[in-house]
Amino acid sequence: MSKAKKSRVLSGVQPTGDVHLGNYLGAFSSWVQAQDTTESLFCIVDLHALTVEIDPGELRSNTIEMAKYLLACGLDPEKCAIFVQSQVPEHTYLTWLLECTATMGELNRMTQFKDKGRGNDSVKVGLFTYPVLMAADILAYNADLVPVGEDQKQHLELARNIAIRFNSRYGETFVVPDPLIPKVGARVMDLQTPTSKMSKSTSSPQGILYLSDTPEQIDKKVRRAVTDNDAEVFYDPHNKPGVSNLLELLGCATGENVDELATKYTSYGPLKADTAEALTELLRPVQARIKELSDNESYVLEVLERGRVRASELARATVDRASQAVGLLPAKTIQGIGGH
Ligand code: TYM
Repeated sequence: MSKAKKSRVLSGVQPTGDVHLGNYLGAFSSWVQAQDTTESLFCIVDLHALTVEIDPGELRSNTIEMAKYLLACGLDPEKCAIFVQSQVPEHTYLTWLLECTATMGELNRMTQFKDKGRGNDSVKVGLFTYPVLMAADILAYNADLVPVGEDQKQHLELARNIAIRFNSRYGETFVVPDPLIPKVGARVMDLQTPTSKMSKSTSSPQGILYLSDTPEQIDKKVRRAVTDNDAEVFYDPHNKPGVSNLLELLGCATGENVDELATKYTSYGPLKADTAEALTELLRPVQARIKELSDNESYVLEVLERGRVRASELARATVDRASQAVGLLPAKTIQGIGGH
């Protein structure tokens, strides 16, 4: 009897130096779950990191550091492929085909570009076309599911629209991917400004919980987290963003339901103390594994090489199909013309 085909999962993360809890709860924890039941590929998107100014040495070390974090958070190279985006040139090749499918209007509507780059002439063209490279990351693997935090929803919608348009213009080529957004932890908020998402580029260090934070740092940041004055504990992200964020963090760390958790607290102090403790416990094994990996760079490079080989094989097949679908001559034909 033939086995049902496993769904394929692809997701990506930028190689920022410090990984924060938003990355972990919004993305990595669903990646770890996905690797057990799906064919999974996870990509460190170093080309995306070039869209803003970054020191070359820092980019190199951040890329390796990110691979260590992915392993420390529980990705298992026996169950999934972990690879570096720039090492699979099919991504950039496919980006061009997709840029000739996407429209200016669509890219103009991307809110992340509006927030970061709109109206600034010195902003890089790559920041504007960034979502098309992201679509190529996904479509190159014919991924069925893309586990991401909520902030990536609009980019996923664009990838879907590009796939649908390409398929209807050139014939069935790409799988139309679905986002996979976790129920809790999809939008971890800044501890100091709980109306904004936790993000390295927009938050103050006191508002961000890094996976590398010591128990003392976690305790201090959580205790100083902005809440509000009425001292009531209930889950209502709109009216009580700070308290709701703490309840979500505690819920993610303990696996408990946020509304039920809220009934256990009548003031903020104990909620903060329990949240800090639960997060410290959540991060303890991750930090222990990071330490183990810190002296083992050759193992990390080996993992990335294995990932590259697997990813290249899959991406090449799709990209060849897409390129022939639009009417580009396959390389073999060109050799044939010259050689025979
Ligand atoms: P990036 O590197 O900003 O973030 C990586 C993942 O972490 C999630 N995330 C969050 N989730 C919850 N709360 C937060 N505060 C928070 N901050 C970040 C993001 O949603 C993401 O899932 N464009 C992408 C990278 C990318 C990609 C891809 C993703 C490139 N190609 C293909 C999926 C598929 C980005 O910049 O993520």
